[in-house]
Amino acid sequence: MNESLAIVILAAGKGTRMGGKSAKVLVESFTGPLIHQVLSTALKLTPSRISVVVGFQGDRVQESVESWLKEKGDPCKVSFCTQKEQKGTGDAVRAALPSLENFTGEVLILCGDAPLIEVGSLQKLLKDHHEKKATVSVLSALLPEPGSYGRIIRDRETGTLTAITEAKDASPLELLNHEINSGVYVVDSAFLPGALSRLETDNAQGEYYLTDIVKRATAEGQTATSVLCGSSEEVLGVNTYADLHLVNSILQKRIREDFALNGVHFIHPDSVVLHPETKIGSSVTIGPSTVIGKNVVIGNRVIIEGLSHITDTTIDEGAHIKWSCRIDQSTIGENAAVGPFAHIRPGSFLGKEVKVGNFVETKKATLHDGAKASHLTYLGDAEIGKDANIGAGTITCNYDGYSKFKTTIEDGVFIGSNTALVAPVTIKEGATIGAGSTITKDVSADALALTRAEQREIAGWSKKKRQREQKKK
Ligand code: UD1
Ligand code: CA
Repeated sequence: MNESLAIVILAAGKGTRMGGKSAKVLVESFTGPLIHQVLSTALKLTPSRISVVVGFQGDRVQESVESWLKEKGDPCKVSFCTQKEQKGTGDAVRAALPSLENFTGEVLILCGDAPLIEVGSLQKLLKDHHEKKATVSVLSALLPEPGSYGRIIRDRETGTLTAITEAKDASPLELLNHEINSGVYVVDSAFLPGALSRLETDNAQGEYYLTDIVKRATAEGQTATSVLCGSSEEVLGVNTYADLHLVNSILQKRIREDFALNGVHFIHPDSVVLHPETKIGSSVTIGPSTVIGKNVVIGNRVIIEGLSHITDTTIDEGAHIKWSCRIDQSTIGENAAVGPFAHIRPGSFLGKEVKVGNFVETKKATLHDGAKASHLTYLGDAEIGKDANIGAGTITCNYDGYSKFKTTIEDGVFIGSNTALVAPVTIKEGATIGAGSTITKDVSADALALTRAEQREIAGWSKKKRQREQKKK
């Protein structure tokens, strides 16, 4: 743990340009709320403490962060400070001061709405801050269209940082400056409270600007410096849905590139969406328009053809997921084949070499090694034995409108096509069910059970019918 590092994350803003219904930092990217992404980067620096400044919907932000931290099991001390009114970024940091009591060292300040910042840039900023013995260090970036970002102002002669001017307060000349303030700072803990207490609101927005601490440091003869961020996209803040779309696409590109460098082959990378914590083995192929949500583990040599949506699932080595499958909260065994067009619902366990074909739906169903359900089948609340063969159109009737019941099909059973299995029911080992049966009673091992009406034949009936119809014309 880095005892002399504390981190403050500003997250009190409302997000007016995003509808303002939900706190901006809770707006979901595919990888979760924005604030989780920022925290995840912050935790990599192993600070002694993190303070999150909340305001608008503070309770919800706190709840979301706390449950996420619990899930992660991170021991870092995170406290929440409330900024009652959103009076500016300087006022927000002031709200965090009580949580920094008894702390000496460097305070790293991050924005909760800028999720692309990378740990390497933060380390570079901290290193530069030490080396230059600075009091305030700012992470800056060069943007082709600096827009509404604060501008970095330097001394004409020495080039040293003297101030940050918000776009709304800047002169036309200052607006031409492409070097902007990322909103990430390192500040010495001894300097911060005094500098914050002297902030004024004499600016275009009538707010307490955190950025004014740079001017204060210079005025006091302290060193203020800036470090250019490695890549300008890291500083992108989310203020509108358009920003969110851009940030999401950059996050996804980063995730895919990491996997691609580790041997994952994406057929059409731009169309694949992946949760960052997905675990993927070697020699895996992932086809177009695949969406992989949280808690997915993919083994070596797995092929996912495409157009599939997979969440909370483990797919073992060599399994083949054919086109258009939805798989949720399930396990797919080694060398199993699923799809095309299969729906594997929660609680499905498919063993080794299991085959689940097109238009098959499983729910709370275990298919032991080698079992096959190749077409048009519903298997719910069912246990299917080894090498059992489930014919097309088999339905486990597991629900009577009130309760659910179990179907057990033992090893080596052959279920003929279009069979209804009315649960609770057990088909013992090696039995056969004739096609078109409705099975309501248990079937003994190695027996044949069938319930269809016997077939009758009336010789010449069709021919006579034809002749009668022809006479009518
Ligand atoms: C701020 C900087 C600007 C910089 C930009 C980078 C100031 C005055 N300006 O502008 O120089 O280029 O970030 O993205 O700091 N917040 C609070 N309480 C408040 C106000 C804001 O917690 O009272 C939080 C917001 O939730 C957000 C962060 O602070 O996470 C930044 O606030 P925002 O209003 O987005 O600042 P910008 O106008 O983008
Ligand atoms: Ca912003």
